[in-house]
Amino acid sequence: MSRSRTLGFDTRAVHSGEEPRLDATGDVVSPIHLSSTFARLDPSEPTAGLEYSRTGNPTRLALEARLASLENAKHGLAFSSGMAAETTLMLSVLTKGSHVVAENDLYGGTVRLLERTLRKFGVDITYVDTRRPVAVKNAIKAATKMVWLESPTNPLMHICDIEAVSKIAAKAGAITVVDNTFASPYLQNPLDMGATVVLHSTTKYIGGHSDVVGGALMLSDSHLYEIVKFNQNAIGAIPSPFDCFLVLRGSKTLHLRMRRHSENAAIIAEFLSKHPMFSAVHYPGLRTHPQYALACRQMRLPGGMISAEMRGGLSQVRKFLRRLKIFSVAESLGGVESLVEHPASMTHASLPLERRERIGIGDGLLRFSVGIEDSSDLISDIKSALA
Ligand SMILES: Cc1ncc(COP(=O)(O)O)c(C=O)c1O
Repeated sequence: MSRSRTLGFDTRAVHSGEEPRLDATGDVVSPIHLSSTFARLDPSEPTAGLEYSRTGNPTRLALEARLASLENAKHGLAFSSGMAAETTLMLSVLTKGSHVVAENDLYGGTVRLLERTLRKFGVDITYVDTRRPVAVKNAIKAATKMVWLESPTNPLMHICDIEAVSKIAAKAGAITVVDNTFASPYLQNPLDMGATVVLHSTTKYIGGHSDVVGGALMLSDSHLYEIVKFNQNAIGAIPSPFDCFLVLRGSKTLHLRMRRHSENAAIIAEFLSKHPMFSAVHYPGLRTHPQYALACRQMRLPGGMISAEMRGGLSQVRKFLRRLKIFSVAESLGGVESLVEHPASMTHASLPLERRERIGIGDGLLRFSVGIEDSSDLISDIKSALA
């Protein structure tokens, strides 16, 4: 983060963490440092602060500086996956008897981690609709250590008032974590709204090319950073130098891609919302979205993710998915190519049926990750698959 934060987002996306070392070889792009260990002259003094690549690696440090800069954070930590980042953070903050208040509509893997892993260690979780900050307030207990948000949520695209919820959590002595994966740092910066930690699956928009799995935490609380960094080294949830290079490379075009993702998604959301085969379209850029005003206030652009309820049940959904030619039917999101998935049988299949039905993930729900192709081709693809 050596370049000043006063530089614009686009400039920081290209340069932060990767200044050419003119006193050395002048590389414009951060080299991929494969060395697993670093030699030293004096046994008590690591060279350039580097000891062993699990603890720190120059390519990872470059990426971490970039990630911190993009989220206006003092510190960035890069992980081997979004789930590795989640696990390390939860193990750093929660102990037996801790309580978490979490959004109802979370990525299925986060719910699986909370329910199937953390509960075993005596962590208690209450899920609420965080669209209503008062619901968070009412759920807080003396043991609440963490409030876990996504905004927009996966897959229902609910928007949570990050500032209002962060204030409530801080008053109760709990940290607020925002999984900012769906928005990306280009669309919103939760730390500026009072959140304590921002989490990303860098597999998604930050990496942007569906060719790497990674995760990140960005935060400005130096005490918490030291704890999480200690645990990252203790647990070992680190990305390889090559993966760091891929995420660094992807992040350079984040701003350009996000503008195009948003432009294309707005066109597709508008099309779907007028099509008789869809009974509802969830996209924060549509005026009909119940939290359109909050989205306009909180997000720079509405982003590339849309979910929509298809009429005709599972058989109609299957027919539609089989006929698509440009959209690939695949899990994940945030890459340059358009993807579509069926949350009930794919990303959210690990949720019990009762929970899925309660929060509104029915058999007709589809989730689109709109890519950066020609929007006219994407519309034609959807039209012919619906015909
Ligand atoms: C919102 C969100 N958070 C976290 C994750 C987990 O990230 P990863 O797959 O990189 O472990 C995902 C994965 O799809 C996600 O969609």
